[in-house]
Amino acid sequence: MILPIVAYGHPALRKVSEEIDQDYPEFKKFMEDLWETMYETDGVGLAAPQVNRNIRVFVIDADVFKEKYPEAEGVRKAFINPEMIERSDDEVFHNEGCLSIPAIHEDIERPSKIRINYLDEDWNEHEEEFEGIMARIIQHEYDHLEGKVFVDHLPGIRKMMLRSKLNDIAKAKIDPPYRMIFAPNKKIKL
Ligand code: NI
Repeated sequence: MILPIVAYGHPALRKVSEEIDQDYPEFKKFMEDLWETMYETDGVGLAAPQVNRNIRVFVIDADVFKEKYPEAEGVRKAFINPEMIERSDDEVFHNEGCLSIPAIHEDIERPSKIRINYLDEDWNEHEEEFEGIMARIIQHEYDHLEGKVFVDHLPGIRKMMLRSKLNDIAKAKIDPPYRMIFAPNKKIKL
């Protein structure tokens, strides 16, 4: 089932999400829906809060980047209860977009390398290091679990320039490219 995507301005994107355990109700069905929704919306990553579930789960499929970034080939992973263990000191810029913030793409500075601990869909534990495009996608999705979105990393002046566009998304004044859930309270503070 394709789930609607929560739009910028909705409170679900601002909550710190909760860990889950193996008893989480209808976990398999939820994961199927999350994957299906990501593929149908042409996302390379999708976090549970973006489908209005504040749990610590995200999925990524970076294969689409394989021509430009060989490390992305065949990388399809689910992250359950991930925990960021290390972030490198050196930071790099990379262009980002987000299914919750349609039609906005900005260069964002983030650590180039990370080490992360997580469970996969079969509840096996992993600890892995990622760099390049993989580190980028994972950090973007991990942010969603912490109630953050990529535009939060922009310098104030740049965010100000985007203000009216972000307002339009928050107030549902856009033609959504897929089914979206907009903030119930139109006066919500961005
Ligand atoms: Ni996103």
